[in-house]
Amino acid sequence: MPDTVTIERRGGVATITIDRPDSLNALNTNTLHALEHVLDETDDARAIVLTGAGDDAFVAGADIGYMKELSTDEALEYADLGHRICDRLETHDAPVIAAINGYAFGGGCELALAADLRIASENAVIGQTEIDLGIVPGWGGTQRLPRLIGDQAARRMIFLGERLDAEVAAEVGLVGEVVPQDDLDSVVEEMATELAGKPRFALAAAKEALNQVHEGPQAAGLAYERRLWSGLFGTHDQREGMEAFVEKRDPEFE
Ligand code: COA
Repeated sequence: MPDTVTIERRGGVATITIDRPDSLNALNTNTLHALEHVLDETDDARAIVLTGAGDDAFVAGADIGYMKELSTDEALEYADLGHRICDRLETHDAPVIAAINGYAFGGGCELALAADLRIASENAVIGQTEIDLGIVPGWGGTQRLPRLIGDQAARRMIFLGERLDAEVAAEVGLVGEVVPQDDLDSVVEEMATELAGKPRFALAAAKEALNQVHEGPQAAGLAYERRLWSGLFGTHDQREGMEAFVEKRDPEFE
């Protein structure tokens, strides 16, 4: 099986690349397991960069072809896996930079939300697009997005499935910086290298303290979201939304 997640180390910087460009780096279970495995190898990293292979996508979301037939129990397992990875990114001692090099939809947006810093290229488009598949964000989006960009902007994104261009994403505070596509790698590398040179325990403490802002109620919210998300599997609109995508036609919702 080809590696769908690669890791490259330079000094203290570990760069993790989701590598399924033919599917716009959509995350199936193999890729998620590979990502989880790769994260296990990053304990000594001083800074982590997460990005997608190719010029078009960071991660175009969870794999819709895989998800479309999931039962509620299977969806819950899939949600758990996605949540474990996002939690791992959020609680990793090292700062994580999401280098958003193109589409970041659904689970791709949620991976980026779990990072500490988000830098987007000008061609990036970001959205929690699950509504048009008959489901809701299931890897933390309903909890992390409003905390980051505020209630109204998050409701618009999640209810309407809005797809924000990079500049708009920066205006609402979803990404911290937008750079020309050709400059993304160098800008991210420069920041990651600088972070890797900072005192690691102080950086880890700063991250832990900043994360406390979201502690407490978020854990309950995340657990609630997992149950709600998986409960939508098996509904007409979930099947129809995902089948329509795979069959390249417009969905007919109930
Ligand atoms: N899951 C599975 N496959 C996906 C995917 C996903 N989330 N996103 C894209 N792909 C696949 C397409 O099926 C297509 O495969 P094919 O070449 O075998 O037909 C390939 O990636 C390229 O996508 P395509 O739609 O042809 O490219 P595009 O440039 O016309 O559109 C997007 C790109 C990202 C706008 C479009 O693919 C899209 O809307 N994807 C779904 C995004 C989404 O809703 N994600 C949330 C999932 S929870």
